[in-house]
Amino acid sequence: MGGDFLFGGEEEAARLLGGKDKAYYGTYGDDKTSASSSRVRRMMEEETKEVKKISISTLFRYATYRDKWFIGIGTVFAVLHGAGFPLLALIFGNMTDTFIRQSLYGFTNDSDVSGTQDSSTMTTPFFNFMTSADGSIDYDTDSHTEAANNSTAGISKLSFEQLMNEFTIYYIGVGIVVLISSFIQAVCWESSCERQAYRLRQEFFYQVLHQEIAWFDDHQTGDLAIKLSDDLERIREGIGHKFSMIIQYGSTFVMGLVVGFLTSCRLTLLIATQSVREQQKYGKAGGVAEEVLSCIKTIASFGGEKREILRYSIALSAGLEVALKKYKVFAVAIGAVFFLMYGSYALAFWYGCQLLDQGFLTPGDIFTVFFSVLLGAFSLGNAIPFLSTIGMAQACGGIIFNIIDTQPYIDAYSNAGIIPDKLTGHIEFRDVGFRYPSRKTVKILTNFNLDIEPGRKIAIVGLSGSGKSTIANLILRFYDPNQGSVLIDGNDLKALNLSWLVTHLYI
Ligand SMILES: Nc1ncnc2c1ncn2[C@@H]1O[C@H](COP(=O)(O)OP(=O)(O)OP(=O)(O)O)[C@@H](O)[C@H]1O
Ligand SMILES: [Mg+2]
Repeated sequence: MGGDFLFGGEEEAARLLGGKDKAYYGTYGDDKTSASSSRVRRMMEEETKEVKKISISTLFRYATYRDKWFIGIGTVFAVLHGAGFPLLALIFGNMTDTFIRQSLYGFTNDSDVSGTQDSSTMTTPFFNFMTSADGSIDYDTDSHTEAANNSTAGISKLSFEQLMNEFTIYYIGVGIVVLISSFIQAVCWESSCERQAYRLRQEFFYQVLHQEIAWFDDHQTGDLAIKLSDDLERIREGIGHKFSMIIQYGSTFVMGLVVGFLTSCRLTLLIATQSVREQQKYGKAGGVAEEVLSCIKTIASFGGEKREILRYSIALSAGLEVALKKYKVFAVAIGAVFFLMYGSYALAFWYGCQLLDQGFLTPGDIFTVFFSVLLGAFSLGNAIPFLSTIGMAQACGGIIFNIIDTQPYIDAYSNAGIIPDKLTGHIEFRDVGFRYPSRKTVKILTNFNLDIEPGRKIAIVGLSGSGKSTIANLILRFYDPNQGSVLIDGNDLKALNLSWLVTHLYI
């Protein structure tokens, strides 16, 4: 460049000043005071306003075709994994019936006539299930009574052993299916999630570096570091294994109801309506706890400057207020939830016994319905805190994707703009007016004019805060003037290619 720039205090300027070179004195800049609490509050309100939840599909916007395949396969296996538990309840119910038959009526002689009866009742554990299912759905037929009666007949030792072997095989079968499906579910979801998070981190970092300097005035580097670690981690959690857990629990819930309804509609309806309501309340309380704790973690990451301490205190007191309110409600709710839960168990068993008395159900059926539906309802409750993880990921996604989608108005990577063949280094400020975007109320430069001919040494002198560095910032095009223009060799800086410009300037 033609002219060398020297920015410094008055002493240094006095030493350097001489002969033909000029000095520019500025006035004291406006107050440098730290932000007042009302300003901090306002800023925090603005920050909160900006946060918009994004849709679930947008959360997966960095999923490639391959990731989508992984997610699809992981979903199928999450469903299988979830369906395994209610199937165990089905086997358990049938096994209970067999035990009760044996303990009430003992073993019959293998060669006895009852062997014929055995063959009609044992064949397979699920034969029993199907018969009782018919019976319980169609209450007016006699078949249900038959089914119940079958379970009240004795059983031969051989049939008993055969049935027990079958139950064991079913248990092992379900175990193997659950083992394999949970493995595939976790591998597929986690690997696709890690790849998406990797791309997301890269994209976020790239976009942050793309932003103009003014953007960094509004986004503290500490905040950005937190976003890069904390917020991106929350998105990672929301698109990974936890998402698949919701599918898995959803599948347990649906399968629990299916098994319950096939075994006994009436009892299932009674248990389901009671327990789902309780689990929703319980799950919400769990979600609130998770939300509050994760907020506190983010809040606690701030610190240092006065403004940050103030911000931290305001956020902390708000968090504390919310937390105290929620925990009061939580404390009352939790007692009520458990009371209702145990009350509904009592009601379900009482009603189950009524149905048993009337011959609609076998004892095993009651266990099957009880465990499959309760397990399903519990799963729904377990899934609710994971829903709050997804909600958190959506909120963080709103912040992160908003940053990623912000197009810088001064883009250092842009190919646009004039690239002159030659640079002589004639710098001009013509009627420049400037305010920092983050402090729009304070004028830093007003109708500022400066003409620096190539090859001249210039010292700009002024009191601290008078705007010396601001002049350099404008030449580097960290900011654009609000009024007037800055020119190099007669070309407005805005028209020049920015990468070319910065490679020719040295600070
Ligand atoms: N990024 C910024 N955002 C908002 N205001 C700013 C920013 N940078 C500087 N200012 C304000 O602009 C005014 C001029 O600042 P500048 O840094 O240009 O002063 P200076 O003359 O270089 O001071 P010093 O001699 O202390 O370096 C000051 O009031 C300062 O508080
Ligand atoms: Mg300075």
